[in-house]
Amino acid sequence: METKWWQDEVVYQIYPKSFYDSNGDGIGDLKGITKKLDYLEELGITMIWICPIFTSPMIDNGYDISDFEGINPEFGTMDDFDQLLAESKKRNIKIILDLVINHTSDEHFWFQEALKDPLSKYRDYYIFKTGVNGNPPNNWRSIFGGSVWEKLPNEDLYYLHVFDKKQPDLNWENKEMRQELYAMINRWLDKGVEGFRIDSITFIKKDSDYASLPADGADGLVSCKHKTRNRPGIENFLNELKANTFEKYDAVTVGEAPGVKYEDFHRFIGKDGYFSMIFDFHYADIDVESGSDWFKRTNWTVSEFKELLFQSQRALQNAGWGANFLENHDQPRVLSKMVREKEWQTPETAKTFGMLYFFLRGTPFIYQGQELGMKNFNRSAIDAFNDISSIDNYYRSIQEGFTEEEALHFVNMRSRDNTRTPFPWNGERYGGFTTGKPWLDMTEEYPEINAVNNSVYTFYQKMIQLRRNSAWSSVLTFGNIKEIKDVPEEVIAYERADEEKRIVILVNLSTEKKKVVLNESAENIILHSQSKPVITGEEIIMEPYQGITIG
Ligand code: GLC
Ligand code: CA
Repeated sequence: METKWWQDEVVYQIYPKSFYDSNGDGIGDLKGITKKLDYLEELGITMIWICPIFTSPMIDNGYDISDFEGINPEFGTMDDFDQLLAESKKRNIKIILDLVINHTSDEHFWFQEALKDPLSKYRDYYIFKTGVNGNPPNNWRSIFGGSVWEKLPNEDLYYLHVFDKKQPDLNWENKEMRQELYAMINRWLDKGVEGFRIDSITFIKKDSDYASLPADGADGLVSCKHKTRNRPGIENFLNELKANTFEKYDAVTVGEAPGVKYEDFHRFIGKDGYFSMIFDFHYADIDVESGSDWFKRTNWTVSEFKELLFQSQRALQNAGWGANFLENHDQPRVLSKMVREKEWQTPETAKTFGMLYFFLRGTPFIYQGQELGMKNFNRSAIDAFNDISSIDNYYRSIQEGFTEEEALHFVNMRSRDNTRTPFPWNGERYGGFTTGKPWLDMTEEYPEINAVNNSVYTFYQKMIQLRRNSAWSSVLTFGNIKEIKDVPEEVIAYERADEEKRIVILVNLSTEKKKVVLNESAENIILHSQSKPVITGEEIIMEPYQGITIG
């Protein structure tokens, strides 16, 4: 594979609403990000992805955009954005934005025009269909629950929304609409952003039969994914999108691509793929059968996790390049998701998981707070949640026959509010996040787990330094990855290797000591996540939840 500028970046994901509040209204903002650039520079990251900052009614915290080219006043102004861009540049930090082009907000000018006037050209910018005998056009369930169809008040007409009813889907079959999107994207690229994380992009093509399918839940509906995600014909839209925008700028693109089959990866990230890299969710969602039905929990084992992880890495390596992550704004905290024993949800274990994913082949993404070893926030009533999908999952669990207590448990395990809590900068009131009152409660442990003297942070610094700036940089960035198989079941082991160097990563995901024997001396320890491991020649005794990197 030809090398690309974005392969050695280390990306930090910012959820702007919860990063840092500069004006005391309880909501994080752009000036707040600018104020904290030194923190990011010190951590060593090279690029930030900022979740949506555009004008929005915020029912899905910005993933419902009413003006693609305006800044949400809660976050600041275009001047604040320009200043953030300039200040980042001074520190050699690049910026990528979140591109949400599967849908808009229902408050977007296009949708408002479409509603007002049946003859408006904007009606064809969205997907409107007539009802069937007084019912919606079909039985598809939206990702956030309920029908994908919302009826217009005065007509027997419905519009389609794969997500919330305030997020109508754009009609990608309309060429003029597509051209307007491309022009908008290019204006952001002209401004100097380096690229985009591209939201829900595999939903832009829908099956044109709009046919119902057998129901798969107590609500009588069926997940819309079968008919709206990764559907044939999407390749034409994605190729056209790339040719008209990103390609001209050598921009980096990270596709949010759940559900893409491994045999299709080359179409997405191959030499002429639609994107630079994609997020693969096959192992991120190991604790649930489906990322949108949280009541379908699994009883996963480390062996299964290992199998999925390496399947994913092999597929990414065969096809192109991956975007590796442990957490994001839609996922729970990794310590709470992956470690069942509360007493092992420690800073040391956070480092171990860091090591496990950070040295995989691909570009690492760090979600804010992950570098502090943060954990989930357990809420004791459903009204304590803000996230729309938490509320939907709660009521849908009850509809499926679970008790309120069980429903709350599922939501606590999976809620997207777990990672959306305000960032704890220090142990003071509200973690120093705001001088006002935060829009969402802080995690309870912020007095102990915050950005002051945090050993997980220091560990991430070391990993970044090793990857970016050491004798191991090249092999850790470009080297091939291969699973090391001859290890205990609960140990995950892999090597990264090129013609010159080889580096081995060993991670024990159990509460017991494990003996690992390598076919070579294991004495050159480069990094370890706990007390110094006991090594004699080729033999290593690993502590519970310990990670070791050997050169
Ligand atoms: C993506 C985003 C998620 C959002 C959804 C709808 O999955 O990551 O936060 O709710 O798309 O835009
Ligand atoms: Ca603010």
